[in-house]
Amino acid sequence: MSDVTFDNRVAIVTGAGGGLGRCHALLLAERGARVVVNDLGGSAAGEGADSTPADKVVKEIEAAGGIAVANHDSVATPEGGAAIVQSALDAFGQVDVVVNNAGFLRDQSFAKMTQEAIDGVIDVHLKGAFHVSRPAFALMKEQGFGRFVHTASAAGVFGNFGQANYGGAKMGLLGLSNVIAVEGAKYDIRSNVVAPIAKTRLTEELMGAMADGLLPEHVSGLVAYLASPQCELTHEVFSVGGGRIARIFVGLTPGWLAEKGHVPTPEDVAANLDAIRSVDGYIIPDSATDEMKFAAAVFR
Ligand code: NAI
Repeated sequence: MSDVTFDNRVAIVTGAGGGLGRCHALLLAERGARVVVNDLGGSAAGEGADSTPADKVVKEIEAAGGIAVANHDSVATPEGGAAIVQSALDAFGQVDVVVNNAGFLRDQSFAKMTQEAIDGVIDVHLKGAFHVSRPAFALMKEQGFGRFVHTASAAGVFGNFGQANYGGAKMGLLGLSNVIAVEGAKYDIRSNVVAPIAKTRLTEELMGAMADGLLPEHVSGLVAYLASPQCELTHEVFSVGGGRIARIFVGLTPGWLAEKGHVPTPEDVAANLDAIRSVDGYIIPDSATDEMKFAAAVFR
């Protein structure tokens, strides 16, 4: 395969002032992208703001011979999202890639979770991706090219104690990505999701010594591939960390089918759980239409 490059391409990386986003921005710039390094700054719990992190990453990119501009808007409002996309237009005249990565944690057990923790985390991770992606998608549709990489988490895909707000937001990104993939297909707009595992300020306490080999750099190669013109994948999800990259998927099984004309009762469900839950013969639908086609084939 030819080298993955971003000649004449413009990428927005949100939350690129540190951790994973910084590494993604550095790699994209190294491969030739002009990069908008967005970061609001602030704490791991999303408090405060600071322009220094984004500015520092821009300096790092420039020192390495790359091209970047800083943006300090918050992804968490529609105005912030629009301003981030506008930064790319002002500096570089186009947007080819959006890496939705910005975010913070406000972990609490579900029984004790405050409304403020729910709103803050959904606003930044899920709505934030909408706020940046929507204006970018409109531009990509016009130009007939675009790549989205959304940052989800195993906490949403598989569940994790104390992270109902975060898990719900992260799983929502799969829905957003799937629909962008379906709606963007005919414009060469591709959309994929990564669920990373890396030692950053968000995870170092949680992971302890085990995290030492899990560098943010281990995640960026996949993100850059998915963001690249060379990438033909769309509608996919990957687990990535420590040098391992693996597919995650939502599958659909043939299931159990009631006799013709019979409306399933709760007792039918209980009696047929093995067939309902069996994973034999599953498919990975590309869309809701695919699900309907598969179900129609089972009915036949
Ligand atoms: P990080 O805290 O180093 O990076 C997140 C960045 O987002 C920070 O620089 C922060 O200032 C910025 N940010 C926060 N709110 C913002 C806002 N409203 N607007 C713009 N920027 C904002 O943490 P890390 O680990 O690099 O996280 C990056 C992404 O990866 C996050 O979405 C996180 O949820 C996700 N993730 C990370 C995992 C890990 O193992 N590190 C695991 C699963 C998901």
